[in-house]
Order: sequence, then C-alpha cells, then structure tokens
Amino acid sequence: MNDGFLNIALPKGRLGEKVYAMLEEAGFECPAVLENSRKLIFENAEKRVRYFWVKPSDVAIYVERGAADLGVCGKDILLEYKPDVYELLDLKTGICRMAVAAPNGYVDRTDKVLRVATKFVHIASEFYRKKGRQTDIIKLNGSIEIAPILNLSDVIVDIVETGTTLKENDLGVIETITDISARLICNKSSYKFNTNAVNTLTKRLSEITEAKK
Ligand code: PRP
Repeated sequence: MNDGFLNIALPKGRLGEKVYAMLEEAGFECPAVLENSRKLIFENAEKRVRYFWVKPSDVAIYVERGAADLGVCGKDILLEYKPDVYELLDLKTGICRMAVAAPNGYVDRTDKVLRVATKFVHIASEFYRKKGRQTDIIKLNGSIEIAPILNLSDVIVDIVETGTTLKENDLGVIETITDISARLICNKSSYKFNTNAVNTLTKRLSEITEAKK
C-alpha cells in the first residue's frame, strides 16, 4: 500500500503489545490496535501509520516482500531465515537466549552423531558445523522439550526465556548459543523511499529504549 502511510507489522502477542506501547510513547499511536477485537489491521490517518498483527514468525516475510515497511521480530527469526531486510534497532525487549538443553544428568557421547530436535534448523546446523560435530537435525514445530524425554533426540536447540519450561520437564541448559531480543526491521526499498519518516521513528524508539535501560 503505497499511500504515504508507514505500514508496521507487529508480532501478535505479549511482545507485540509491549512494542506497540513503545511506538505509542514514540508518538505513533493508534489506540484501536489494543481493542479486543478480531480485526488485524488498524490505522491512524493523522499520524500516517498503519499496524498489522501477524504471526511472530511471519513478520520478516511481510517486511522482506514489502507488504509492510517496518516490523518487529526476534533476532532468532533473523538468524534462522536471514531475510533480506535492514535491521535498524535492538529494542532491548523480548529478551531471551537460544540454547542447547538436555535432560538433567545427560552425558554427551562425542563419538556418536548427536540427535538435535529444534524449530531452528539453520541456527542448530551452523552451531554444530562450527564445532565440527556431526548431527542429525530433527525439525519440529513446537513442544520441542518433549523430544529428548521420548528419546526422539539427545538434545534440543530452543528459546529459553524464564527457564520454567525446561525446569518443569527436568531439562537443563548445556550451552548458550546466542542472546536474543526484539529487533526493528525495515524493507530495503521502503527505507530508500521513506528515509526521513523511518529515521524519525527509529530515533524516537532508540531514545525510549535507552531511557528504559
Ligand atoms: C518458547 C520456547 C519454549 C518456551 C521457553 O515457546 O519454545 O518452549 O517459550 O520459555 P520459558 O523459558 O519462559 O519457559 P513458545 O511459547 O514461543 O511456543 P512454541 O511451543 O510454539 O515454541
């Protein structure tokens, strides 16, 4: 939609609501966004801003293909799918880490191929490739923690936030792969055509992020 609006894809859920609050504070409010409805698109004509709620893992696709000018997604998605977008800002929220976890008491047999269950196939492959470790990567779509319990895998590579899911399933972190947080991303040609508006929004968000430190 090339109508002078900034189109922003927000990840549906708690992270998206937090980020919307930051955008509101930055002066890009659109109160209807928080209405408890099934609507997915909202706009504030006066502020020339339009928001979409999309599945968190789809934000980067909307932005890469230009259906949204800007979006917010986790660094995990950027590392996994390497979308061709600009990463403008670390929003310092949605903080968690990508880690290898295994059942408590797990002992690694380094002479064996390691079976790794994960949603993040590329992150996991890259991590073990750098270590020179042979792996059998098993792609799952959710509830990853159950895989080593049922002996589908030896370990998992997954997101750990509070650690509660691991703890409640008698698993523990073995290694941290990388820290994760939410990032502001921008479509490359949108940036070219809306440089001033995008820079203004990024600068205001950056000030808010710094002030929260
Ligand atoms: C993520 C992740 C873990 C959980 C970790 O799942 O896959 O299961 O959060 O959080 P914790 O350390 O605070 O317990 P998410 O809720 O994103 O859903 P998913 O099962 O679809 O991956």
